[in-house]
Amino acid sequence: MNGMLADEPEIVERILDHIDRKSTDLSDGVWHEPVEHYTSQARFSAEIRQVFRKTATPFCPSAALPDTGCYVARDAALTPVVAVRGGDGKVRAFRNACRHRGVQLVDGSGCKKALTCRYHAWTYGLDGQLRGIPDEHGFPGIDKAAYGLVPIQAEERSGMVFVTQDGAEIRDGATESLPDLFGPDWRLLTTVEQEFAANWKIVAEGFLEGYHIRSTHHDTFFPLQYDNINVVEAFGRNSRISFPYRRIEKLRKVPPAERRTWGMLTHVYHLFPNVMIATFPTNMIMTVLEPLAVDRTRLVTYTLSNLAGHEEGRAAIAQGRNFVALGAAEDRDVACAAQRGLAAGANDVFTFGLFEGAIRHFHRNLQTLIGETAS
Ligand code: FES
Ligand SMILES: [Fe+2]
Repeated sequence: MNGMLADEPEIVERILDHIDRKSTDLSDGVWHEPVEHYTSQARFSAEIRQVFRKTATPFCPSAALPDTGCYVARDAALTPVVAVRGGDGKVRAFRNACRHRGVQLVDGSGCKKALTCRYHAWTYGLDGQLRGIPDEHGFPGIDKAAYGLVPIQAEERSGMVFVTQDGAEIRDGATESLPDLFGPDWRLLTTVEQEFAANWKIVAEGFLEGYHIRSTHHDTFFPLQYDNINVVEAFGRNSRISFPYRRIEKLRKVPPAERRTWGMLTHVYHLFPNVMIATFPTNMIMTVLEPLAVDRTRLVTYTLSNLAGHEEGRAAIAQGRNFVALGAAEDRDVACAAQRGLAAGANDVFTFGLFEGAIRHFHRNLQTLIGETAS
């Protein structure tokens, strides 16, 4: 399933064809996922260790680190991490802990000339080197070069910073084929963090199919969007799901080779395992689903736009954002209800049908990396 992504005319063609036939993309088979995988502490630990720590995962948009000294600190795979842009323009990432007595160095985001620990003021350069120890004679013979911040792999691609925590990154070639999602004119508008009571996979699944548009989003997305008409593509472990708007009908009058998708559909890029990027007419939303515990997830939502430079752009962005927020709240409500339903013990497996192929792809990849045998 390592296909390349279809171009815009092809996506439009497939969607118009589905509208005519009242059909949608179908996967090759039904998937049964053990419910235990949403509740088991052992499975959760295996996901962190064998998937999150070993995969190159998007950490933040490059636009969150616009200048020298800008940093973003947050937990990734239960580990405090800080990414910072150096004087040479390069982004580096470190374990976010002082090398003296381990105090977490920075919180949230901001810009600094150097990273200074709040406890005894050991100071690190933006390249992670330990630069200064107050009253250094208290540490006779200390080799400062051995006390730099502990680096983790970081790399900028497609307008995002990717980090890999444990050793060699598992590459499947797919991330390299990502389109440039955030070009140099994209600016970060807001960063919002929310925590809620659901397993991270339940939250992820809500982004990956269009079979719930009519019933879950009846008064929000459904008036503007089709229910259960989607193009579903896999590239490596990632997926892209296209959700057409009703106004895509207008493109029937446009010669096929000139058809463009912007403003006609939402793409959701699922960057395995835990990042979703959704495209909207006035902005893009990058959501990181950060697992905190088997039944708790933090959502970090970055909203970016390339229209923020002028007034009409800003008004349109605000309007679009409020609208999307209503739909997103509906998704969170059902995710929390699905989490509460786990306690009912009604299901041994969850059954994902032919419309839910991107979820099947997701679970199959988790299963492979964790080394479970096929169900
Ligand atoms: S713990 Fe950071 S300087 Fe002491
Ligand atoms: Fe939804």
